[in-house]
Amino acid sequence: MSDCNTRIIAPSVLASDWGKIGKEIRRAEDSGADWIHLDVMDGHFVENISFGPQFVSAVRPHTGLTLDTHLMITRPDKYLPMFIEAGCDRITVHVEAEHDVAETLSRIREAGLPCGLALNPATPLDEVKPFFDQIDLLLVMTVVPGFGGQSFMEDETMPKVEEAFELRNAEGLEFHIEVDGGIDHRTVEIAAAHGANVMVAGTSLYKAPNMTEAIRTMRS
Ligand code: DX5
Ligand code: ZN
Repeated sequence: MSDCNTRIIAPSVLASDWGKIGKEIRRAEDSGADWIHLDVMDGHFVENISFGPQFVSAVRPHTGLTLDTHLMITRPDKYLPMFIEAGCDRITVHVEAEHDVAETLSRIREAGLPCGLALNPATPLDEVKPFFDQIDLLLVMTVVPGFGGQSFMEDETMPKVEEAFELRNAEGLEFHIEVDGGIDHRTVEIAAAHGANVMVAGTSLYKAPNMTEAIRTMRS
């Protein structure tokens, strides 16, 4: 497992041009991305539909980078085998979804993949604390999930990042703290200052005039 204090930049392909998805994945890799973030939406857990396991299989051959898969779906337990089969490298599920959270997390690990747990801006940190010793990554959503291009919700989410960071360190745990939504060259520093190390960014990277430059700025 990589060091939980190392900054990891994960472009979200939600903001890429899906008409040339293979090229867009390679563009992120060539621009210095660490992970590729895949946002799966089912039109039920969130108000948008994106893609499913077949899309993951389609992008898999285009990169050796970690496919960091974020399941915004109501029944992650039901579809887990399909995403594992498709070639995801890490899988994150939501605490608000309809499943036995502890069981889903352990099934992800049993498949040999690091597991992540996500929480929405309105969900208190208390909901995820009981799982802190069972996760490899905590995803603190910094927008209401569903769409790219929204504004970073600093006041609602940064106290949770900070508290998670402090608790993790106090308990000697090792999970990554990931932020997702509205991350750009400015907000990345706010998130990092509160303890986040994995930075997901769609719009600010894929729509940048120069992705290499944008990733470099986000890293420093
Ligand atoms: C939000 C998704 C995000 C989204 C981030 O529903 O989970 O990953 O793609 O997009 P930006 O960076 O455009 O806010
Ligand atoms: Zn995401």
